[in-house]
Amino acid sequence: MKDKFSKIGIVLAGLGSAVGLGNIWRFPYIASKYGAEFFIAYLLVSLLFSVPLLISELSVGRKVKGNILKPLKKSMPFLGSLAALIASIATLLLSTYYAPLTATTLGYALSHPAFYPQFKDFFDSTYNLSLFIIISIITIYTISLGIKKGIEKIVRVMMPLLFVLVMALLLYVIFVLNETSWLFLKINLPNFLNQRMWLDAISQSIFSLSAGMGIMIVYGSHAKKHQSIRNIALLLFLGDTLIAFSAYGIVHGILNYSNMNIAGGIDLAFKAIVDIVYVVPFGGLVSFAFFALLFVAAFTSLISILEVPYYYLKDRGIKEAHIYIGVFLLIIGFIIIKKSLLEEADFLIGEMLLPLSAALISIATAQSRAFEKELKYFKKEVYTILTYILPLCIGLLLLLD
Ligand code: PFF
Repeated sequence: MKDKFSKIGIVLAGLGSAVGLGNIWRFPYIASKYGAEFFIAYLLVSLLFSVPLLISELSVGRKVKGNILKPLKKSMPFLGSLAALIASIATLLLSTYYAPLTATTLGYALSHPAFYPQFKDFFDSTYNLSLFIIISIITIYTISLGIKKGIEKIVRVMMPLLFVLVMALLLYVIFVLNETSWLFLKINLPNFLNQRMWLDAISQSIFSLSAGMGIMIVYGSHAKKHQSIRNIALLLFLGDTLIAFSAYGIVHGILNYSNMNIAGGIDLAFKAIVDIVYVVPFGGLVSFAFFALLFVAAFTSLISILEVPYYYLKDRGIKEAHIYIGVFLLIIGFIIIKKSLLEEADFLIGEMLLPLSAALISIATAQSRAFEKELKYFKKEVYTILTYILPLCIGLLLLLD
């Protein structure tokens, strides 16, 4: 009998993958680049593109025996195999900088505010470097335990904890800091004509929902037979969006209170939030909760990211897949840390390889038409979206980058 998720387990694991640095770190600054229109665009493109893609991936995974390579190959022999290979390479490479970032969030959560290291110097200490090694080893070990004994056990503890941390921080911002102005954003109609905003919304939504990376194919292949895939996809969308919007409130509330500008990129978490420690009430506790939240979110995403190359190698009959992946992660992760290549890696992988993988997986999974069984209406429209419209939008995105 195949190692299956429980009904709640697959929703928690899916959320564990979806809710990550993308929600808490990336969403707040991308949304503030545009304003209220971005929230509406985000909701629309998620429902139009990301949710259908999730349904398509989950249903192909469940329909065809195998984990990722076999389902994709069966859908489209050439393009499907290529999609599986690119998704596996993209996620494997993604893990090599996602793991150092996960270690950094843990390091910040564990250190005293007076001793926060500068982000760029973080890995100069052997202690912090060992956090990266420990996290990588725990991740690989979890994956090697399989679904029920591995990822499901972890997310059953971590996801409730994540929810409590988000709610506690949100209540703090509203009731202790009295910061609610972020709730009343004004809509500026002409901004809806900004094509770049729509493309950014698509790439943020796909990244945030972990769609088009093969993760949902792997999870679908471990889903129970009679569970509604449409409901799983909708729950992932609702949960992930709720956390992203809450993170916007938390970050903006704290930074408004401290009169700080919202900074993008690495500075947002590792500088701005560090600087507020001495300004806001209970600063030490707040920054601890914030970094603990970032860590829990990042860690569960990291595990899911490595499930893709792991099951790809398993599908090819390689038994010690976890060993090879572990060694690769440690060596390349170490190089990225030592050469400070984090931002370059994010550009190449996050903005090039992952979108390419999403476009290929969208086309390949749609050809199997497995999603049709999960939908009552819009079967034709979903097929057109996944085969033509979404890949076209991603193509535009790649051209503009
Ligand atoms: N969805 C995760 C986030 O929002 O941080 C990141 C992620 C996980 C991206 C898994 C891609 C992926 F395959």
